[in-house]
Amino acid sequence: MPHVDRAVSPWWQRPGLEVHAGRLAVCGQDAETLARRLGTPLFVTDVDRVVENARRLRAGFRAAGFGLTLPPAIVRFALKANRQPAVLAALRRIAPPGDPEAVGIDACSPGEVELALAAGWRAGEISFTGTNLSDRDLDRLLPTGVHLNLDAVSQVERVGRRAPGRSIGLRLNPGRGVGYHEGLAYSGERPTKFGIYADRLDEALAVAGRHDLVVDTVHVHAGSGWLADALPAFEAVLDRVRTMAEQVRGAGAPLGEVNVGGGIGVPARAEEPPVEPADYASATRERLRPLLEAGVRVACEPGDFVVKDAAILLAEVVTVEERGGTTFVGLDVGWNNDCAYFIYRFAQELVVCRAADAPRDRVVTVAGHINEAGDLFAEDYAMPEVREGDIVALLNAGGYHQEEASWHCLRAPAPGIHLVRQPELPA
Ligand SMILES: Cc1ncc(COP(=O)(O)O)c(C=O)c1O
Repeated sequence: MPHVDRAVSPWWQRPGLEVHAGRLAVCGQDAETLARRLGTPLFVTDVDRVVENARRLRAGFRAAGFGLTLPPAIVRFALKANRQPAVLAALRRIAPPGDPEAVGIDACSPGEVELALAAGWRAGEISFTGTNLSDRDLDRLLPTGVHLNLDAVSQVERVGRRAPGRSIGLRLNPGRGVGYHEGLAYSGERPTKFGIYADRLDEALAVAGRHDLVVDTVHVHAGSGWLADALPAFEAVLDRVRTMAEQVRGAGAPLGEVNVGGGIGVPARAEEPPVEPADYASATRERLRPLLEAGVRVACEPGDFVVKDAAILLAEVVTVEERGGTTFVGLDVGWNNDCAYFIYRFAQELVVCRAADAPRDRVVTVAGHINEAGDLFAEDYAMPEVREGDIVALLNAGGYHQEEASWHCLRAPAPGIHLVRQPELPA
C-alpha cells in the first residue's frame, strides 16, 4: 500500500525546499543535519533559486511582449538585498555583458558600485540611485562612469557643477506609493525623503538644463514588499510616473528609460497572494504604453523578488516557556541576523525541521537572544509542537538579512553556506 501522509503539504514547498518524509530538505540535503554539522545560526542559500527567480521575471516580461514586439526590459538586481559572492557569481553567469538576458546591478552607495565592478559588471550595466549623497560620495561615483539617478534638486545642482554635460536620471516621487504596509511605501502623499515631487520637476529640469545635463531616465521606487492585491496601487503609481515622464519629454529631454524600481514582494503566509511576473509586466506595459510607443525602454531593479525565498536561516530552539499565558519559543539567533520583523515588520514562516509538515496546532511567540523586548520573529503564531533542542528554519531569509547583520550585544553575524540542487540520480 502506498504511504499516505496525513499532514498537509505546506504552501511554501518548491523544488529545492521540500519536505522529505516529514523533514525539511534544502537543495536535497536534510536541514537539521546541516545545522547539527555546521552549527547554528546558519544561513543556507539555494543558489539555483536565485537564478530561477531572475528567469521567472524575465519570462514574465517576455509573456507581456518585451523582447518580442517591444524591446527587452532591462532587469538590474538591487545589490543591497544580497551581496554574497556566490549569489553575485550566479547572477553574473546568467548572461554576459551586452546580452539582453543579462542581469545588471542597481547600486545605492559608492561601495556597492565598487563591489559590482569588482564582481564583473561593466559600468554601463550598473545604475546608481542613492539618497543624501555627500560630495565625498560624488568624488567616488563620478569617475566610475555609472549612470546616476539623482533624487533631489540639490543633487542635480551639485552633479551639474562637477560634471556638466553628463547624462543623468531623475528619481521621481509620484505622490503615490505602495508597500507591504504603509511604512514600506517609499513615495506618497505624505512627504517621504525620496525623489523629486511634481511641484519641483520643472525646477529640476531647469537646473539640469543650466548645466547641460542630459535627462535620459526617469526612476521611481514606490515601496517594497507589495503583493498581487496591491497591483492596482502600483498601476496608480505608474499613471503618475507616465504623466511626469511626459513632462520631462515635453521639456525636450531625450528620455530613453523609465525605471520602475523594485518592490515586488514575496509571500510569507499561505494567504498572501504572489505577484505573477507576467501580470506585473503587462501592467507596466499598459500604464507606460504611450512612452513605450515613443521608443522609451522599461527597466526594473528587484531585490527581494530575486533572493528573498532563496535562503533559510537555521536556528536552535533554546527555550520553550510559558509566561503570563503566552508560550515563548526562544531561539539562538536575534534580530541582528534576521531583521525581517524587527525592522520591516515582514512576516516569516518558521518550520520545525524534524516535523516540517506537522499540523500547526498551538499558538506561540517566537523570540531571539538579543536583550531587547522587540527581538521577536513572530507573535501569536501557529506552530506544531516544538521542544528545546529542535532546529527550526526561518524562511524568506535571503534578502536584507546577512547584509544588515551586526555585532549588536556582541552576538556574531551568522555564517552562511551556498548550495546548488543535487541532480536527480537515475533510478
Ligand atoms: C531605489 C531602490 N531600488 C530597488 C530597491 C529594491 O527593492 P526590493 O528589494 O523591495 O525589490 C530598493 C529597496 O529599498 C530601492 O530603494
